[in-house]
Amino acid sequence: MSDVYEKVMELAKRRGYVWPTSEIYGSVAGFIDYGPLGSMLKRRIEQIWRQFYVIMEGCYEIECPTIGQEAIFIASGHVKGFSDKMCQCPHCNEYLRADHVAEGGGVNGASTMKEDALSSAISGLPCPACGKVLGEVNVFQFNLMFRTMIGPGSQRVGYLRPETAQGMFTDFPRLLRFYRDKLPFGAVQIGKSYRNEISPRQGMIRLREFTQAEAEIFVHPAQKQHPNFSRYREYAFPLLSSVQQQKGDPPLMMTMGDAVRDGIVANEYVAYYLALTHELLVKIGVRPERLRFRQHLPDELAHYAADCWDAECFSDRFGWVETVGIADRTDYDLKAHSGESGQPLTVFIQYPEPRREEHRRVVARMGLLGPRFRDKAKAVADALEKATFSEDGANIRLDGQDLVIPPDCYEVRDEVVEVQGVEVTPHVIEPSYGIDRMIYAVLEQRYDEDEADGEVRKVMRLPAAVAPIQVAILPLMTRDGLDTIALDITKKLQEKGIMAEYDDSGAIGRRYRRQDEVGTPFAVTIDYDTKETGTVTLRDRDSMKQVRVAVSDLNSTINDLISGMRTFSSMV
Ligand code: ATP
Ligand code: GLY
Repeated sequence: MSDVYEKVMELAKRRGYVWPTSEIYGSVAGFIDYGPLGSMLKRRIEQIWRQFYVIMEGCYEIECPTIGQEAIFIASGHVKGFSDKMCQCPHCNEYLRADHVAEGGGVNGASTMKEDALSSAISGLPCPACGKVLGEVNVFQFNLMFRTMIGPGSQRVGYLRPETAQGMFTDFPRLLRFYRDKLPFGAVQIGKSYRNEISPRQGMIRLREFTQAEAEIFVHPAQKQHPNFSRYREYAFPLLSSVQQQKGDPPLMMTMGDAVRDGIVANEYVAYYLALTHELLVKIGVRPERLRFRQHLPDELAHYAADCWDAECFSDRFGWVETVGIADRTDYDLKAHSGESGQPLTVFIQYPEPRREEHRRVVARMGLLGPRFRDKAKAVADALEKATFSEDGANIRLDGQDLVIPPDCYEVRDEVVEVQGVEVTPHVIEPSYGIDRMIYAVLEQRYDEDEADGEVRKVMRLPAAVAPIQVAILPLMTRDGLDTIALDITKKLQEKGIMAEYDDSGAIGRRYRRQDEVGTPFAVTIDYDTKETGTVTLRDRDSMKQVRVAVSDLNSTINDLISGMRTFSSMV
């Protein structure tokens, strides 16, 4: 189907899924509004995500502010390094993402190129905005965080969070206590994240305000066997490993058991969340043949990550689009926050039996330290605990200065002590979902056209589990009591929490078309037989087939169809 992007976006705007924000003032790139049906679709997808992570995985949800103090983002590395390479077209003054211009011109490896290399790589390429050849342009780093001030008088710098993840790291000590000081445990957050993207020209794919759903799973660094790995050991889907990419090979269909055994996926935890993500994306409507998992190449991998994979959904307009990132972030985040905050972010792991271990203790001789170091003597004594030793004495660092403490000022005692356990910094496995990109993938991949009554039928083949309107209630006529029966059926379904929409306007064929276009999976028609037999017709959106169902069975039938406990084809 050609122009699917235009068709989907036209439908999305006209029927209330998604539209540009604040259009009456002229919209702003990178911001969108979800309309009545889009908001409902989003909630349903988020609910399915919660069903997987909060209910099934037991990762409780937290909610942190979207503005964070500067220290958080200094520790996380965002203040220093969360930037993209940018340039400005000398002809039309448009700001451009230099790596995207390069990629668009067929340059390989643009995302990892330095500024100078990018500058020469794009000099012969046309500006995507005005089409003129760029020539010599200055490529420089642009930090993507929105900066703000907290409180009046510009006293304190804050940033709109660029990811939800940091909340789980800064809350680590309280979460650890909540989970009774035991690993593994996970916590999740769904909420808005903000990135001042340089040139957001890809609709819902590249937004400046978007919704992330992130899970941070804290695990013992030496125990990366997932306790429920058997659930996905035989689960197979296409993996495009870094080796295959380097060889130019296509993705390989692989079970998670084989992928871990062959060292393609780093460990069972990463493999488990790859499979869970596959299952979840398919459940919300991503087509398996348009879904693959691509491993980060060695030069693309963040320096702290042990492994990282992107779930990519295929778009007719944008090609393969990263929709979810799944990474083993090791102990990077907790160590970084511990260093910046001065708080220990570790877990005490008790040994099954106490162990006797040799322990070197450095005992300061205060009588000698006092006269030599005066008011610093106590600090020197404390620093001796972490000293390194050479022939000249103990090497310590105090107030930014390196000092050598002579051997007569301390005594080194080697002792055997009974140790109950050890403090470890957990590793973090992070599946990070972009809800807006998931929604776009579903809308694009589920949009279809076929023929009905000799006309082109536009149909959104959304899974019943995510369709905003779950059933349409259509009286054949608005007379002879058919409308009253239909309104009564609507109310009874709504009382059971089912999103039923009553519609009596226009010919029945038109009403079906309207519901097909927004993806309503089922329609109930009340006709004259309803009065005689107490039955209605139940129509399936995809096959357009109909069956008669007793009004008394309607609630449970619709419920079963939406939850997937029954299929329509089993009823015809
Ligand atoms: P990209 O390379 O496409 O910019 P990213 O690698 O920066 O994406 P991550 O930082 O891994 O993305 O963010 C995790 C998820 O958040 C992504 O997989 C994506 O679904 C979503 N996401 C990130 N940036 C945006 C954005 N600007 N608009 C919409 N969703 C986004
Ligand atoms: N938390 C992963 C990311 O948003 O980059």
